[in-house]
Amino acid sequence: MSTVPVITIDGPGGVGKGTLSRLLARRLGWHLLDSGAIYRAMGLAAVRAGLLFDNAEPDESRLLRLAQDLPLRFAERQGETLIFLGDQEITQEVRSPEAGQRASRIAALPLLREALLQRQRDFRRPPGLVADGRDMGTVVFPDAPLKVFLTASVEERSKRRLKQLLEQGDSATLESVEAEIIERDRRDRERSVAPLQPAPDARILDSSHQDIEESFRVLAGWVDDTLGEFFSRQ
Ligand code: DC
Repeated sequence: MSTVPVITIDGPGGVGKGTLSRLLARRLGWHLLDSGAIYRAMGLAAVRAGLLFDNAEPDESRLLRLAQDLPLRFAERQGETLIFLGDQEITQEVRSPEAGQRASRIAALPLLREALLQRQRDFRRPPGLVADGRDMGTVVFPDAPLKVFLTASVEERSKRRLKQLLEQGDSATLESVEAEIIERDRRDRERSVAPLQPAPDARILDSSHQDIEESFRVLAGWVDDTLGEFFSRQ
């Protein structure tokens, strides 16, 4: 068992995982894993390699080879995480709703998930890791001392996602965002491997009626309790 602590933050799209995870990692001075970015980058690489089409089942064995050699790299610049595929920066490109849908499609492939597992576990380095995703607490870091599962209503998540997209300069409507969220939720929850669900020992945080500051206060309280306990056991 690793002595490096991990805090897992799982939940559906638009729930505020990314923001809360980044705030928490910064406050603790820990590493941050945005596992969704790995699936999004993998989806983009698959399209570029001609391995992913809208109306055809993906060829899992070819995708698997691509995943094993994926030249993916993260870099920090002025507090922002940049994503690179080879030498090319793809940070903006993988943030679009289409990139999210593509990521969700390939994320349902069991062998592909397995191929990306070690890449995610390698982020666990001292002094600690905050891991954001769908299966961080159930599959990737089942021994994490604190597991959090974030929820919020579809309406609330759609409003937040729309605001984010408009701020990024993308065009979208509440209806299109809501439809996208519902479809991605269904696919992520119903897949046979590592479906989106809380770990049995996860703490549930419903942020439907809370702003990010309030959610962060609750989260920070749990972290303080858990870390005291974790370090006293070392
Ligand atoms: O968190 P995100 O919206 O960037 O994730 C994009 C998609 O990637 C999501 O719809 C499902 C998939 N994903 C996953 O299956 N497992 C993870 N740990 C993270 C993301």
